Amino acid sequence: MERTAIGVIGCGFFAQNHLHAWTDLRSKGVEVVAVCDVDEAKARTTADKFGVKAWYRDAETMLREHKLDLVDIVTRVETHRDVVGLAVRRRIPAIVQKPFGQDLAACQAMADDAQKAGVFLAVHENFRFQVPMRKILELLRSGAIGTPSWGRVSFRTGYDIYKGQPYLAKEERFVLMDLGVHVFDMARVLLGEVEHISAELQKRNPNVAGEDTATMLLKHRSGAVSIVECTYESRRVPDVFPETLLEIEGPKGAIILKPGSVLDVTIEGKAKTHDADAPVLPWAERPWHIIQESVLATCDHILESLRAGRPADTSPQDNVRTFTLVEAAYEAAGAGRSVRVT
Ligand SMILES: NC(=O)c1ccc[n+]([C@@H]2O[C@H](COP(=O)([O-])OP(=O)(O)OC[C@H]3O[C@@H](n4cnc5c(N)ncnc54)[C@H](O)[C@@H]3O)[C@@H](O)[C@H]2O)c1
Repeated sequence: MERTAIGVIGCGFFAQNHLHAWTDLRSKGVEVVAVCDVDEAKARTTADKFGVKAWYRDAETMLREHKLDLVDIVTRVETHRDVVGLAVRRRIPAIVQKPFGQDLAACQAMADDAQKAGVFLAVHENFRFQVPMRKILELLRSGAIGTPSWGRVSFRTGYDIYKGQPYLAKEERFVLMDLGVHVFDMARVLLGEVEHISAELQKRNPNVAGEDTATMLLKHRSGAVSIVECTYESRRVPDVFPETLLEIEGPKGAIILKPGSVLDVTIEGKAKTHDADAPVLPWAERPWHIIQESVLATCDHILESLRAGRPADTSPQDNVRTFTLVEAAYEAAGAGRSVRVT
């Protein structure tokens, strides 16, 4: 069996899911041989928890002292450029969490650097790997509803995300960077590349620094139109966090993803309902289980892509296109007009 030695950089809140996923992938020859966090307590505790033999405070030392086949970067966005740079300079294949970079120039620079050096790099964009999305993409690819011409991608919650990720309240560019990257990525995967976009941003919670609500209208190159929206300031019961709700219409039917991962599919006038919920993995817990299962699916896809010598579906070049929509939305909202996406 092929073996892959992995080093994980960043042992914070979300990295725990990555470490569980890599542990599940031990059956495929994966071994996390070292973890690193600038916070020694987090590095040490994470190493203990997952039975990893070596822990570090300094990423460069870890990369120098271990012969890694893959480095998984689960730090926050402001560190991505430097840490990705360390891996690329050492020619170590790498994964980096979303959002890819702090702005489009940083994303493009990382993509170019990796390409020039011939180093495998993938962005851990996991929403397109969620169970309901995988089912919907299968249906679309089978031509079940014809070429989609209208869609809605919606992530609306009031869940207290600031408890696990207090730093989010201080982000000047907030919900588009944190959730926008996910919902734009889904819109691209479902309906294709975007021609132009308009956007309205709101700060509805006075205690956060950046926008917490974003509402976008997209015209896709195929002619399809979509409404893409995300907010952390929706007061609803039930609150479906962290589910993304979807509606896709085509000439032959429609696919509607409803709360509870209930999938209503209408084809040629006949309606069927499917259960599209993700399994609750042994280490997962509701309501996070959909996200947690998608982390495993994303890690698995990226590992298989690396081993096969092909780019991941979430390659840097692909993610730059998603990130372009984030920048275009900020521009459109600032200018109060629709922006052409180049
Ligand atoms: N895909 C998803 O569904 C999802 C969900 C939540 C968070 N995230 C992303 O995960 C990333 C991490 O978020 P988080 O909430 O875990 O943050 P966090 O602050 O809890 O964890 C980040 C860790 O990285 C460490 N760190 C910072 N710089 C470092 C360096 N140079 N070397 C080693 N360690 C370093 C910090 O000490 C911290 O422990 C973010 O990019 C975030 O957007 C993704």
